Amino acid sequence: MSDKPEISPKMQNLYDLAAELDDLGHIAALLGWDQQVNMPHGGAEERGLQSAAIGRIMHEKFTSDEVGQLIDDLVEEVGDLNAETDEARAIKVAKRVYEKQTKVPLPMLMEQIKVTTMAHQAWEEAKAKSDFSIFQPLLEKIVDLRKQYADLFKPYDHVYDPLLDDFEPGMKTAEVKEIFNKLRPQQVELLQAIAEKEPPDNSFLKQHYDEDLQETIGRYVITRFGYDWNRGRLDLAAHPFTTEFGQGDVRITTRYLKDDAGSALFSTMHEAGHAMYAQGVPPKYRRHPLSGAASLAIHESQSRLWENLVGRSKEFWSFFYPSLQMLFPQYLGNVSETDFYRGINRVEPSFIRVEADEATYNMHIMLRLEIEIGLMEGTIAVGDLPEIWNTKMQDYLGITPPDVARGVLQDVHWSGGMIGYFPTYALGNLASVQLWDKMLEENPNIPDEIAQGKFDTILGWMREHIHQYGSKFEPQELMLKATGSKITPEPYIQYLKTKYGEIYNL
Ligand code: CO
Repeated sequence: MSDKPEISPKMQNLYDLAAELDDLGHIAALLGWDQQVNMPHGGAEERGLQSAAIGRIMHEKFTSDEVGQLIDDLVEEVGDLNAETDEARAIKVAKRVYEKQTKVPLPMLMEQIKVTTMAHQAWEEAKAKSDFSIFQPLLEKIVDLRKQYADLFKPYDHVYDPLLDDFEPGMKTAEVKEIFNKLRPQQVELLQAIAEKEPPDNSFLKQHYDEDLQETIGRYVITRFGYDWNRGRLDLAAHPFTTEFGQGDVRITTRYLKDDAGSALFSTMHEAGHAMYAQGVPPKYRRHPLSGAASLAIHESQSRLWENLVGRSKEFWSFFYPSLQMLFPQYLGNVSETDFYRGINRVEPSFIRVEADEATYNMHIMLRLEIEIGLMEGTIAVGDLPEIWNTKMQDYLGITPPDVARGVLQDVHWSGGMIGYFPTYALGNLASVQLWDKMLEENPNIPDEIAQGKFDTILGWMREHIHQYGSKFEPQELMLKATGSKITPEPYIQYLKTKYGEIYNL
């Protein structure tokens, strides 16, 4: 006997459509994974066409008038889309995506694809030559197209809202600004206090650790965390990422650097955090409209939690450092556990966002958000970006990039038209600590468990409060349910002050 509730024929139609789109989406993901992990250089052009073909089929299937009619009928049938049933939320998600996708006129969509393809090439060349003028005309076109896109969603409170909403459903620019306005002065103050202190030594990390051993360690650590190898795999790629081809196959990648042993281990923990989220969505949401994640910020809260709150904690290293030290006596034989812990948590303003430590990371994001908002409002001109970038870097981090490759051109996002994405990284950091605090309040033994190499209470809590809902709830709604509060900066500020106050003796 199945205890599945009866669903209407129309609801079944929506589920069937979602299942087919899920299959196609996972085929597209497989093409993308192969492109980054295995594909020879010569495959790029045809692979691009193959990926575009899948994208086109998915778009056509989903944006037809029949699907629009089906969604309208279901809205009528179910009534309140905010009811907390899977059916209501599945329709809500489908309606939202349908409205977004059908709003964009085909010529605009084609123009976007054309411009971003050219922009990506121009960005690569501009970055390699460190010459902003190569990228500038295309970025101007992208900003213009993004404004046109935002205007499709008028009336809005802010021109940046429709862009942000693509990555953080339901979130408003005003909310993010308010959060960052509270965060910024406190984080600047902390960084100034840190800058006056002697930084801990981390030269023991800047060595060439054996790569096979690094891989063994990475695999061992994430196995203990709870990454399911029966439904996962680890490969090498130039840029670490996580991708999924269904609940039964969530893959991660990493890379080993010759002069930085921490990089691979921490990024493996990070990607495993993303992957365990995807592995934790329940089987009932397999090939389902709610099979995804709540948002990018919620996703990032999971990766950051395992990477930073677990992986860079004192307790974790009290469990794991003796083993690591035995494996690498030549580098770590004379480094005490305390010195190791302080070394991996060294704070250092740096030019590159992806290399930033916990205490400086959000500053890189705030700078980008201010610039993106300025570009969309028209108060910042694309041509002035290199100068504005450098001024803000100096203001926030006290350093000026020596060239545009290490400044305004460092990230790929804008070349792909992704304006509105960056804030999700910082919001994820904030959410990670909020979830952590709530979890510890309910499970005060967790630090002791970590020190014994036990992580199942953490994963279990995340399964129960985050993973089990898939994309059923919007991010702020989910945070409210899980922690009693929407995303707020205070816990993160407190966390940084406590942790770095101790490390730096502030
Ligand atoms: Co991430």
